[in-house]
Amino acid sequence: MKILFIGAGSMAHALLRGAIDAQVFKKEEVYVTNRSNQQRLTELIEHYGVNGISCRLPSDEEFEVIILAMKPKDFHEAAPVIKSFLSPGTLIISVLAGISIDHVSETLTFKGAIARAMPNTSAALGKSATAVTYNEFLSEQHKEWTLKFFRSVGLSVEVAEEQMDLITAVSGSGPAYIYYVAELLERAAVDLGMQKELAKALIIQTISGASKMLEDSGLEAGILRRNVTSPGGTTEAGINVLEESGVSDAFSKCIDSAKARSEEMGRELTFNHLK
Ligand SMILES: NC(=O)c1ccc[n+]([C@@H]2O[C@H](COP(=O)([O-])OP(=O)(O)OC[C@H]3O[C@@H](n4cnc5c(N)ncnc54)[C@H](OP(=O)(O)O)[C@@H]3O)[C@@H](O)[C@H]2O)c1
Repeated sequence: MKILFIGAGSMAHALLRGAIDAQVFKKEEVYVTNRSNQQRLTELIEHYGVNGISCRLPSDEEFEVIILAMKPKDFHEAAPVIKSFLSPGTLIISVLAGISIDHVSETLTFKGAIARAMPNTSAALGKSATAVTYNEFLSEQHKEWTLKFFRSVGLSVEVAEEQMDLITAVSGSGPAYIYYVAELLERAAVDLGMQKELAKALIIQTISGASKMLEDSGLEAGILRRNVTSPGGTTEAGINVLEESGVSDAFSKCIDSAKARSEEMGRELTFNHLK
């Protein structure tokens, strides 16, 4: 099997590490290319023991799997290079946020198997929540391979492509919402007199423990919350303020706004290069 990563940045790093560790492929089977940053490419090649390949045209190399791991804005510029590495049986896996499968297919004039995925930054730790969608040309083996590939960096679930903007808003941007909660908790604790390092340690462990409880107990978040909220107690006093301050409504608006922005960016990425 020959696998090509086009793009050698953070996401390529995370996916390479996960997939090599999980033995989804052997490092000898992997080729990596980027645009111009030779130092970054060399680091990746040496670190993972994979092969480098030039993206200068023309190329007579063909690959069974091509992973599109450049920034979405660089996709059109990279299209001639991507096309040169394609064969009719290639499986394209795109992690380009906001770019539809149809748009990848049209830009590359490629009528074959294309999978589209939305991982998140926790892929770097093997803890991504990744949504994957496909076109009709993927075989069962292609689908299994793709899910296994993304499982090597965390949870990997199959979704309909129409859900991608919502998923981008929920789990794509999701780590930042949790960091925001951590930041606000820490600021509030420090403002009330807690030492910063102590606040940080307690909050990290609290988020980590709550996350593990959500995962292991199988209980709904609302039930877990009610279980630890005694009537008239301290947690209730705090939660009441969040409710009265409109936090629930703010989260609805947050997801709605992030989804709308994802849709808008998708349209910009798809149509701007035509102008
Ligand atoms: N990072 C995340 O957590 C995350 C989460 C979800 C989705 N994604 C998606 O993952 C993709 C990559 O993100 P990233 O954070 O890894 O980006 P990044 O660190 O900026 O890396 C981008 C890579 O693409 C290469 N590249 C750019 N133009 C190219 C071209 N024309 N031909 C070949 N290679 C080219 C760059 O090469 P040079 O360095 O030489 O310019 C660089 O190696 C994005 O589409 C993003 O939407 C990322």
